[in-house]
Amino acid sequence: MRCAYARSQDPDDPLAGLVVGDLPEPAAPEGWTSVTVRTVALNHHDLWSLRGVGLPGDRLPMILGTDAAGVLDDGTEVIVHSVVPSPGWQGEETLDPRRTLLSELHPGTLAERVRVPARNVVPKDPAISWPEAACLPTAYLTAYRMLFDAAALRPGQTVLVQGAGGGVATAATVLARAAGLRVWVTSRSDTKRARALEIGAHEAFETGARLPEQVDAVLETVGEATWSHSLKALRPGGTVAVAGATSGAMPPADLSRIFFRSLRVVGTTMGTRDQLVALQQMLLATGARPVIDSVVRLDDVPAALGRMADGDVVGKVVVELDA
Ligand SMILES: NC(=O)c1ccc[n+]([C@@H]2O[C@H](COP(=O)([O-])OP(=O)(O)OC[C@H]3O[C@@H](n4cnc5c(N)ncnc54)[C@H](OP(=O)(O)O)[C@@H]3O)[C@@H](O)[C@H]2O)c1
Repeated sequence: MRCAYARSQDPDDPLAGLVVGDLPEPAAPEGWTSVTVRTVALNHHDLWSLRGVGLPGDRLPMILGTDAAGVLDDGTEVIVHSVVPSPGWQGEETLDPRRTLLSELHPGTLAERVRVPARNVVPKDPAISWPEAACLPTAYLTAYRMLFDAAALRPGQTVLVQGAGGGVATAATVLARAAGLRVWVTSRSDTKRARALEIGAHEAFETGARLPEQVDAVLETVGEATWSHSLKALRPGGTVAVAGATSGAMPPADLSRIFFRSLRVVGTTMGTRDQLVALQQMLLATGARPVIDSVVRLDDVPAALGRMADGDVVGKVVVELDA
């Protein structure tokens, strides 16, 4: 089976251990289903796996990829939900401390076929294209939950999205605009700020810039490079929703600011299957659609992940497999 997999890991040179080649099709545990993959979106998660973060070395070789859309053996078109709870877990899957994403314990989606628990697929609506569908399970689901669950934002409020060019950040920009929020973003790059305005941001600022006023919530996936700015940007009682730390996970906490101004810091990871269904419904109801940087082939995955590592991507890179 053709796939893109991690053969080895290197914190400084993640692409060194990436292979596009053949591996045997993995066996499926009982109660799992097979999906013939049509499209896969790349995520920063794939780079973390190649750097040795979140994927223990004794699980190599591991097929990468946490996002997919494809077709079941009976012809049903589906979107794959990537959060796999541990056996016997009852309750919300993201709260299972032993849950994994595809490519962390079970083989990932960057392959001709992927096996998932039968519950981990949702029907794909025909109005959502194959490349768009592949963007939903990771970046768009994470952004949906950050906005409407973790930060509990309501129409008319103001949200600041840090690192505007990223997959989660562009998702947040699109969804926040569609939901009637005032959307402000930051980015290090002129080009990405301009693009953010095109896809729905009301204002775009340089990273760390002083804002015209404080905001109701900040969406934080950049980490150390923007954390201090995120806390300073919040109005008293505001919320910072945190789902990532690309530039580092140990910034000074600034506890005095957090308690003195009654700030809420809410961590969140991915989302539930029900939220994935609701996210697709939101796209159908609003007409909003994922921002796609480019659509590439499986052989192009190393180059595409290289661009992502260099921060040279706006929106999602989607890999199309042969139909
Ligand atoms: N918890 C979850 O469920 C979850 C889900 C998805 C992603 N994540 C995490 O969230 C993070 C973003 O993921 P992604 O897939 O959206 O990644 P991505 O597409 O590679 O985006 C990363 C963005 O971070 C910004 N950035 C990186 N380094 C920076 C620095 N030193 N200073 C300022 N900005 C910097 C860049 O924005 P600009 O170039 O525009 O400034 C870049 O576009 C990753 O760490 C990922 O692992 C977590």
